[in-house]
Order: sequence, then structure tokens, then C-alpha cells
Amino acid sequence: MSTIESILTENRIFKPSQNFTEQANLSEWQEYKKLLTEADSDYEGFWARMATENIDWNKPFSKILNSDNPPFFRWFEDGELNVSWNCLDRHLTTQPNKVAIIFESDDGNVTRITYKQLYHRVCQLSNGLSKELKILPGDRVIIYMPMSIEAVVAMQACARIGATHSVVFGGFSAKSLQDRIIDAGANCVITADGGIRNGKEVFLKNTVDEALGSGGCECVKHVVVYQRTKSTINMDTKKDIWMHDLVQNQPDVSNPVWVSSEHPLFILYTSGSTGKPKGVQHSSGGYLLQAQLTMKWSFDYKQKDIFWCTADVGWVTGHTYIAYGPLAVGATQVIFEGVPTYPDANRFWQMIANHSVTVFYTAPTAIRSLIKLGKDLPKQHNLTSLRLLGSVGEPINPEAWVWYHSTVGSGKCPIVDTWWQTETGGHMITPLPGITPLKPGSCTLPLPGIVADVVDESGESVEKGKGGILVIKKPWPSMIRNIWGDPERFKKTYFPDDFDGKYYLAGDGANRDADGYYWIMGRIDDVLVVSGHNLGTMEIESALVAHPLVAEAAVVGKPDNVKGETIVAFVVLQGDLPIGDESDQTAQILRNWVTKQIGPVAKPEEIRFGDNLPKTRSGKIMRRLLRSIAKDEEITQDTSTLENPSILEQLKKVR
Ligand code: WTA
Repeated sequence: MSTIESILTENRIFKPSQNFTEQANLSEWQEYKKLLTEADSDYEGFWARMATENIDWNKPFSKILNSDNPPFFRWFEDGELNVSWNCLDRHLTTQPNKVAIIFESDDGNVTRITYKQLYHRVCQLSNGLSKELKILPGDRVIIYMPMSIEAVVAMQACARIGATHSVVFGGFSAKSLQDRIIDAGANCVITADGGIRNGKEVFLKNTVDEALGSGGCECVKHVVVYQRTKSTINMDTKKDIWMHDLVQNQPDVSNPVWVSSEHPLFILYTSGSTGKPKGVQHSSGGYLLQAQLTMKWSFDYKQKDIFWCTADVGWVTGHTYIAYGPLAVGATQVIFEGVPTYPDANRFWQMIANHSVTVFYTAPTAIRSLIKLGKDLPKQHNLTSLRLLGSVGEPINPEAWVWYHSTVGSGKCPIVDTWWQTETGGHMITPLPGITPLKPGSCTLPLPGIVADVVDESGESVEKGKGGILVIKKPWPSMIRNIWGDPERFKKTYFPDDFDGKYYLAGDGANRDADGYYWIMGRIDDVLVVSGHNLGTMEIESALVAHPLVAEAAVVGKPDNVKGETIVAFVVLQGDLPIGDESDQTAQILRNWVTKQIGPVAKPEEIRFGDNLPKTRSGKIMRRLLRSIAKDEEITQDTSTLENPSILEQLKKVR
């Protein structure tokens, strides 16, 4: 594959409104250019200035970037800081009584906690962990919690004592949890009796017991249990301790442990499409810097904002834009225990109205399913508090973008389509909402200090208008530092020999248009090769989603002797599943539509309908499973990370 062809044209442009621009943190094209020029002429100096101006260092750094042993880059390494201090203590004199978190539980109960209260809670838990349980700096602590204030307290408490946390999403099985405990060599697990989602209890402590009982987890000496649901659980007197007992007699102040900027703040496992999960290891100083900068740049953070990121703390989005970024800038944020569809599909809109949310950040998969469940529902709520919308996790199809913009944002809120990854720590390619004219479906331009490019297989930049492989050409402060315990895999995966080990390989295909805007075309592994054309998945899927009948779509290749591959599309309709002839007719309508929108090369040979698509628990479509279904193969791959396994059976049957 040398390049990927771009076949879909999207011409709509949305300029920031004057109202928005006037109040924006960055509001002029020249300002953006100035930052780019600064980063271009003195890359390290630029980052040093950002790190000095944004982070409170206990001991300032004198070294900026250490590139002695690439790709193991080190930033600000002789600087000392504490991330929790930067998120809490520094706000104590300026805004102790500002609400830090508005927590809404699954059943609609609301709890508010101020910066001062949060600080005391974090201090008590960090004292409990360090003094009572003797957790030391550098120890690994697994956090397996429901969405809660306590989950953030647990992460912050680890950061405060220099322990490296690894949050495991609360929906993962005992086996996944066990693998991660063993890989991280954790000596402590922080969990809850259970969590409540969708009106039902998820039994977390039982799953921890099962994981610890399955062997290999002898490293775990303590299990701290937050009491959420009060259901009956087993407590092993030797190992298990209630969180409320642990913190009860602890002082509510504590000195943070100052750590090196390079100290691992957390490990977060990405499931990956194949093989053993990768423990993505992040630093403290560089990571915090990008979290904080992007709150100001991408989200245009203002003191009076009510910020709501709907991700789970089990994913990187919940790390950077719940547990760290919003607290580092001193924001008030909403944290939600439940799901967007409980008790019904009004939930998000209702919550935005109730809490007067100003900045709302969610995923395309949530947007597409909420369109299917009630295109007009947002209109029944007062969403006038909103001033900025965000999207993350997958390419957002232009039609979904336009709906989000017009129906949720009343046409007045810029949308920041933020491209980034677990490995990048924070936003990388994303609009600056007061400056960048938006094009639906494009994540627009790289942030200042981020040197992105689209290259062919030999590492040469491809000309504008052509697709290729997305790479980052210079190290940046919030980048992944290592795969926990596997430096060789780290090098091979992210800095492959194909590019002489020089470029960070994101694994995504992208196209850059004549204005230099980036369009993510899907994962490189998912590229289709049809009659000699390399096609990304995103554009064909977007063409399908642009048809009024279609809610969601995923395309995969099926081997073909003549064409190389033919295109098989899996489609979820806005309405019910079609039956009999209706199914053939709808498929024909959609095939013709794609031919008209893009051209015959992109026409799906086969279209299958389903009620849903197979997705990971973070909402990404798992195309590798669809490839097996398209080939009528048995699925032998690991499906434990799947949100909705039963959908596979349906898609196998339905045509
Ligand atoms: C995809 C989530 C298009 C992409 C923060 C990336 C996106 C992967 C976008 C990382 C976006 C994320 N537009 N694609 N705005 N954001 N992706 O590690 O394929 O869960 O490589 O991090 O999601 O997913 P991860």
C-alpha cells in the first residue's frame, strides 16, 4: 500500500461565529501562526515555555528534551512536581469553595463536591494508602471502579503518593482484570461493592475476588472497597478493607510526594485488535501539560464553564478530560454514573439542561445511536447553556456532525473533532474553536508543537489530496513512554523500522486536503483493496450514513479472485430491520446511493442489516469480527472486549 485514495468530497465549511471568537482564548489566525512559528523555530524552547507557564514545579527543570536513547524520549526530566498538587492544592487559596464535581448517579441523585472537600478526601485516602497500607511511590495500584467521585479520588490519591495507577474499565471480565493485575504487578486494588448502570447492578467486588482467586495475583496485598450499592459481598479480613474504614481516622491534609517529571503517572491497557493488551505508560509532567493546554486551547476553557466529558474513567478520555485536565485548570465538571439511554434517550439532553452544561464532549457512537433513538429529542430540552461541543474516539461522519451542530448546538456551537489516542495522552489534531473554520468530518489541523504528517510506505510525505499513513515526526511531551515491561514491543509497534524508527506511527490512515486539513480514514489495518484502489473505511461509511434511511454503517473487505477484495457493508437502519424483499430493495437503494455519492469503485457488493454493530466497550466498531462474518468464517478471535456479543449471531444470519 503506498497511498490511500480519497474518494468522498465534503465541501461544507462552518466558520466560528463572531460571538464565539470575541470571547475565545485563542481568537486570531495570527496567534495560531505565531505559536506555530515559535514551535518551528525553537521546538524545545516552545515546549519549555508552555511547561513553565502552565505547571507548578516544586523544582524547576533545566533539561527540556532528552533524546539520547530514542524512542525512549524524556521531557523536563530533572523537574519535580506532583500532579495531584497541580490539580488540587494550587486551587485552595484561589477557589476553595468552587464546585469541582457535580456527580449524577444512574437514578438521578446529584452530589456536589468543592475543590476544598475534594482535596480533603484525596488527602485522607492518600494517607490511608501510604501510612496504613504502606503503598510506596512507584507501586502499581489497580482501580476497578464505577463512575463516581471516589474513582477520581482514588486516581488523585495515587498520584499524590507517587503510586502508578492502572484503571481497568468496570465492564471488563475477571480474566481481563486478572491479566492486567499480573502484567502490572499491582500490590493493591481499589474497587467498589458494585456500580449501577442502566438500572442494574454491576458486581465489581465479586469480579475482583474471581480474578484474584484465579492464580497469579499473589502480588495483591490489599483490596480497598468503596461502598456504593450496599449489596452483600465477601470481605476477606486479611486483604480487604472498606474505603470508609481506611480513611476514617486519617488526617485530611497531606504533603504530596514530589516526583520526577518522568515518573509514571499511570499505565492504561489498550485492548488492541490482536494479541496481549498493551500497558501504555505515561509520564507525569509532560502528560499533565498536554491535558491542561488542551483544556484551554481545544475546549476554550473559561472559569464559569460547566464541563461534561461523558467518557468512562476506564478509558484515556476519562483520564485526561475527567480525572486530570478539568481539575488542573480548576473547572466545574459533571460526572455521570449511567448510560445515555437510561431511563430513556432523553438522558444526556436532560442532564445538559439540568446542570447548565456549557462544554459537552462525547463520542460519535453515542451521537449516532441517539440520532436513531430520537432525532428530535434535543429540541424538547433547553440546551441554550451549550457553547462548545466535542467529539472523540472515531471519525465522525459528516451527517452525524451536521446533526450534532444544528440540533444539539442550535447552529451556534463550534464542534471540536479531537483526534488523539491513548498513546498520545491528549488532543493532537483538533480545531481551535475560536479560529479554525470547521469542515464536518475533519479533525482539521495539528495543535502547535505537534508535527504531524501523512506519508507513504517509504516515509515520504504524500501530496495534498492523497491519503496515506498518519505519523508524528517529533517527540512531544505527553507521548507514551513505553509499553509497560515490554520496551521491544514499544519500539516495534510505534517506531517501526519502516521509517528508520524515526516517526511515531499512529496506525491510522489519513488524507490531507488542499487546505492542509486532516481527514482520518480509519485504521490502516482496515484499508480495503478493491480493483487496485486502496480505500479507507471512513468515506464509504460516511456516504452510507448520509442516506436518510441509515443510522450506522461499517464496511469491510471480502477476498475476491477478480477484484482483490469486494466491499461488504453492515448497516443499521434508522427504523426497524427490513425483512424479505424489503431487505433486497433497501440494499439496492443504498448500493445505488453509494455509487452516486462516491463512484462505482466504492459500491458495496453485499449489504447486511442488523440492529447494531459489534463494538468495543468504548464504542469502537470491531471491523475484524465483521471481516470474519463477511467471509462466513467461524469467529475464533477474542470477543471478551465486545459490548454486545449477541449481535454477531444476528449479523451472521441476516442478509
Ligand atoms: C480513533 C481515544 C477519527 C483513531 C482518544 C485513533 C479518531 C483511535 C478520533 C484511538 C477522531 C480517536 N477522528 N478517529 N476525532 N479520535 N480516533 O486509544 O483511530 O481509545 O487511533 O483513544 O481512535 O483510540 P483510543
